[in-house]
Amino acid sequence: MKTLPLNLHPDRVPRHVAVIMDGNGRWAKKFGWQRTRGHRAGADAVSRCVEACDDIGTEFLTLYAFSTENWRRPKTEIEALMRLLDKFLKERTPEMMDKNVRLQAIGRITDLPANVQERLHQSIETTGKNTGVTMVLALSYGGREEIVDGIRSIVRNLREGHLDEAMITPEMFGKHLYTRYYPDPDLLIRTSGEMRLSNFLLWQCSYAEIVVMEKLWPDFQKEDLYKAVQEYQKRHRRFGGL
Ligand code: FPP
Repeated sequence: MKTLPLNLHPDRVPRHVAVIMDGNGRWAKKFGWQRTRGHRAGADAVSRCVEACDDIGTEFLTLYAFSTENWRRPKTEIEALMRLLDKFLKERTPEMMDKNVRLQAIGRITDLPANVQERLHQSIETTGKNTGVTMVLALSYGGREEIVDGIRSIVRNLREGHLDEAMITPEMFGKHLYTRYYPDPDLLIRTSGEMRLSNFLLWQCSYAEIVVMEKLWPDFQKEDLYKAVQEYQKRHRRFGGL
């Protein structure tokens, strides 16, 4: 069996890691730069994080790249983020192919500008058969919105007679969420020291271990992912049992 960095336990690696990538703006401000420059540096940190997941055998990485609340930011910042996303997908899809990364997306994707949607679908299609890390980008994503969309889907199915009330269980509800193809996150990482979920994967993180680090997202290194996993491996997950 291969030795993992920091001597991590190979049989207790989180299968799914979710990340709230916070602090791009503050990072840029520290140097007197525009916030957009922080987002650009944040995109480089994304690549490092995927690589680190690949190194240790984490299968799924979900990244909070744009929340439903982010639409309230100034138009210029939203436009810059959308341009960056477009550029990221264009330039990094070949890298994803090299590294066997499969791209997926969750959220209200149809809210995104048409060119970004197009680019996203292309990258998802191109990387669709890759068998390495699955990188899920949460875009125009909100946990409450996802739950509401799930309820709508269930109501539709009830009305059409495909379901009856007794069939509604937590497991079944999970099948009506955007994340129905992925296991629940085992580990949730948030950078920049904030202790909040910020409407991210509210249903799915019920039993996730949470690791908050002070570092701002653009400073995130592969070592930080290993350290978060090390912390995770020290925890005793009981899922409500003893
Ligand atoms: C939080 O920092 C980050 C975001 C709102 C966007 C996340 C985007 C990236 C990491 C870069 C692009 C990613 C991809 C996949 C292309 P903030 O702006 O809230 O920082 P602040 O709290 O310091 O203001």
